[in-house]
Amino acid sequence: MTKFRLTQISDTHLARRLQLLTDNFHRISEHINATRPDLVINSGDLSFDGPTSRGDLEFAKSLHEALPVPCRYLPGNHDLGDNPTAIGPVPTHPATEPLRQSFIDVIGEDRWRFDEAGWCFIGLNSLIMNTGIESESEQTDWLAGQLGSVNGKPVALFIHKPLYLDTPDDPELESSAIRYVPQPRRKQLIEMLGKVDLRLVASGHVHQRRDFTFGHTRHVWAPSAGFKISEARQELIGIKETGLVEYRFAPDSFEVYHVRAPGQIDIDLDDVLKAM
Ligand SMILES: [Fe+2]
Ligand SMILES: [Fe+2]
Repeated sequence: MTKFRLTQISDTHLARRLQLLTDNFHRISEHINATRPDLVINSGDLSFDGPTSRGDLEFAKSLHEALPVPCRYLPGNHDLGDNPTAIGPVPTHPATEPLRQSFIDVIGEDRWRFDEAGWCFIGLNSLIMNTGIESESEQTDWLAGQLGSVNGKPVALFIHKPLYLDTPDDPELESSAIRYVPQPRRKQLIEMLGKVDLRLVASGHVHQRRDFTFGHTRHVWAPSAGFKISEARQELIGIKETGLVEYRFAPDSFEVYHVRAPGQIDIDLDDVLKAM
């Protein structure tokens, strides 16, 4: 395939009891049905509360399986717990090996690599970074092997948490450490990626749409497919809206389209919580 059309959705936060978010997913499903990309990637937080409700993950998987195109998945902190940071508060649900295994049992994968249209696509589990659990070092070794077989192709990385706010040298702050790949793993990951031609880092997690370039790497933050978060709860960095991102890859080039599905609405987290 010399052209590859990819749709990124993120932070769907699905649960059978949350009809508003399911309605937004159906609007996205209709859009995907109309546009028929080659692949859909959900970059994490598929479920509303996977660590305490395996049923949320199962519900999310069933809705994705009903899509008319292939899907790939990455975990978010609401799917298998969060990672500890050097300076931030301890997460309520730290990522653990059993939670990761539960995610894999239901969803089928937590990292992947495939090649299309002259590109190498790599998806990473960002929640096990900094945990010290066995799968963290396994993933690091696996990544080193994948990066060693890129053969000069441009690389697109998909990952739930953004690498950083603006630059690799941004200081880690207590108030926002949980938003990005935590140190010291961030530094290690950036060093590993420095050995290949990294053109794109596509992330989710922040529930804000953003698109910026540092060096020759474009960083695309996909908005949540489900809900936005008010300024009372979270600082404004990019654009607070629901939506999705579409990509067109060709050998040595790619295009990014920031879109919303027809009928997709801007639900606020407070309204989701009120409906529970
Ligand atoms: Fe999320
Ligand atoms: Fe998240």
